[in-house]
Amino acid sequence: MRLRVRACEPLVGSVSVPGDKSISHRAAILSAVAEGVAGIEGFLEADDCVRTADALRALGVYIDPLGTDVIEVHGAGLDGLEAPERPLDMGNSGTGMRLLMGLVAGRSFATTLTGDESLSRRPMDRIARPLQQMGARVEGQGERRLPPVTVHGGHLRGIEYHPPMASAQVKSAVLLAGLSADGPTTVVEAAASRDHTERMLAAMGADIEVDGLAVTLRPGRPLQPRSMRVPGDFSSASFLLVAALLVEGSHVTVGEVLLNATRTGLLTALQAMGADIGIAGRHEEAGESVGDVSARAGALRAAEVGGDLIPRMIDEVPLLAVAATQAGGTTIIRDAGELRVKESDRLAAMAQVLGAMGANVAEREDGLEITGPTPLHGASIDSRHDHRVAMSAAVAGLIADGETVIEGAECIETSFPGFAAALRSLGAVGVEESEG
Ligand code: S3P
Repeated sequence: MRLRVRACEPLVGSVSVPGDKSISHRAAILSAVAEGVAGIEGFLEADDCVRTADALRALGVYIDPLGTDVIEVHGAGLDGLEAPERPLDMGNSGTGMRLLMGLVAGRSFATTLTGDESLSRRPMDRIARPLQQMGARVEGQGERRLPPVTVHGGHLRGIEYHPPMASAQVKSAVLLAGLSADGPTTVVEAAASRDHTERMLAAMGADIEVDGLAVTLRPGRPLQPRSMRVPGDFSSASFLLVAALLVEGSHVTVGEVLLNATRTGLLTALQAMGADIGIAGRHEEAGESVGDVSARAGALRAAEVGGDLIPRMIDEVPLLAVAATQAGGTTIIRDAGELRVKESDRLAAMAQVLGAMGANVAEREDGLEITGPTPLHGASIDSRHDHRVAMSAAVAGLIADGETVIEGAECIETSFPGFAAALRSLGAVGVEESEG
């Protein structure tokens, strides 16, 4: 699919976005091993999460067909998981693959997980290493254990693990394996990554304790099913909010968005750049903070962004780069080397995409330097099978002269079905999808 984007009139209005991707994965996975039935409202019906639901079905768990407001997951209990008859195809989803590797590591069968071209280039050694320390055997391609991977599950021992990178996927995989271990499992992070797994495990009755950057899970307590409503995805909302900041005269509100502080680093960075952002109606839902976020267009100034803020905005760095092209001065993004092993090498991708559109951008080993404000012009962009690169390019296209054509835009479906329609509903009439 091709997405064509033209500069637009002010974006005005209120919208909602589909359910949070990280929480949808976890709601399906943890409910699958709970002991009873849970209803999940607002499960993200995008390719990544659909793959996770299908993989759980292949492991013997009954999950309602998708397509209704609330889907029921009939938890089989950890011991109720069954050996899959075929490899689990996780598509584009690194989260799905990594979390499920942890889940099946303590089961007495082997599970093979495969993925698409992009996922097949992503390292699974970061998961294999702690799982092997716990007693599982993990096969993958080459030293970095690229997919397809096979997890030979078995008896696991609890470990204390210090991941070399701040990664919620690694932390979650180890904790999920820890559910089947014979003693406590502790993960000590160097910087806080998203903590949805810990929150949901606690809400489902697990014996889990968080002490600063350390989280300890003591196995043995069966998980209780917990019906929940998945809040709107902060990462999806971000594309609409940054579009509103950049398109002159805009004022947009995104309602019922997840506002967990381990996810909202982009707002911190944008506020440091002078962005006019408001939050209203903050409340709790299923142990997570939720609220309405508004953004109003205005001048931005450059900022330096790095350190502990990066894990809190890891998926929004490409979008921050787009905003930086319109900020006065040089924005420096550092400590963001993890972006090189996402759905694409996002540092290289954003340097090329924004460079092609006329931005003043330099790629650094662990970040980007962007000097603005610079007028952008339309260009032909390859999505690189990366939904966030595609959507970031679309936001840039809204303020560019001429037409921006994003090739391979079907990848947007992995996280934000309805992205183009949401932009159009706010007034971006020049956003069109076409076959090709
Ligand atoms: C995710 C964690 C992040 C993030 C990804 C979703 C999760 O990855 O980039 O989109 O749901 O746990 P890392 O934990 O590998 O940084």
